[in-house]
Amino acid sequence: MRPVIDIRNVHRIFESEAGCAHILHNVSLAVDPGEFVAITGPSGSGKSTLMNILGCLDKPTAGDYYLQGLNVAELDDDELTEVRALSIGFVFQSFNLLPRLSVIENVMLPLAYTNVPCSQREMRAVHALQAVTLPVDHWDHRISELSGGQMQRVAIARALVNDPPIILADEPTGNLDSATGALVMETFHKLQERGKTIILITHDPGIAAEADRAVTIRDGRIHDGAYIPHTPRTLRSAVDSLPMISASANPPKGVVA
Ligand SMILES: Nc1ncnc2c1ncn2[C@@H]1O[C@H](COP(=O)(O)OP(=O)(O)OP(=O)(O)O)[C@@H](O)[C@H]1O
Ligand SMILES: [Mg+2]
Repeated sequence: MRPVIDIRNVHRIFESEAGCAHILHNVSLAVDPGEFVAITGPSGSGKSTLMNILGCLDKPTAGDYYLQGLNVAELDDDELTEVRALSIGFVFQSFNLLPRLSVIENVMLPLAYTNVPCSQREMRAVHALQAVTLPVDHWDHRISELSGGQMQRVAIARALVNDPPIILADEPTGNLDSATGALVMETFHKLQERGKTIILITHDPGIAAEADRAVTIRDGRIHDGAYIPHTPRTLRSAVDSLPMISASANPPKGVVA
């Protein structure tokens, strides 16, 4: 079984006038299809930085990222947008909902980057909102009229609307009371039962214990829980060492043979 997410020796260095901040150090991590992985670690340890890379919202300064066998570094911006739209549902730490739009309009937003016909978009959004059990009478409310827990569920519904195989969630229970947090976790467990791969960042050891595996990050380094598939060479060097093949037999751009 090939990992759905496979990062190798990833570094992330932020450069600014104030100098360089080396935030991720040699991070390697693989996640199998259908796995539920929790990422934990102290505030400022690099969890969201890692999640942004996993979600193709940011690129590593060094190192490799293979997402469903695609070498992310080889994708251009349009291809990245497509991969993000089709493969990944992202639940942001700060929700990133648009306050002036209604709940259902927010949930439909990711569909704008797909070829789902307009006539089907509302129905998709309805299904996603039902999955997170947001009451129907809230669907036409503006985001600014919702509670934090309701916003969190809208953010999860938006991540589900494309039916992506991978869900990345950054502190999805961070602002919730324990009852609403449990409801949100139940949603993630149901998604895993439906075959989704879930990567969830949390400060809460109780939440992390609900996952199949907990990965701990400290000071930008994986401290515990990394699983790196046993491959004697890097994927790239494995591809480079393949015998010459005709152009027509080449794998599509970015696909690891
Ligand atoms: N764009 C950026 N430029 C410079 N530094 C950054 C940038 N993004 C994050 N950092 C720094 O990287 C470090 C890790 O930030 P990150 O948001 O990944 O932490 P975190 O583990 O998610 O923390 P929290 O649990 O508080 O959400 C912090 O010191 C932060 O200031
Ligand atoms: Mg964070």
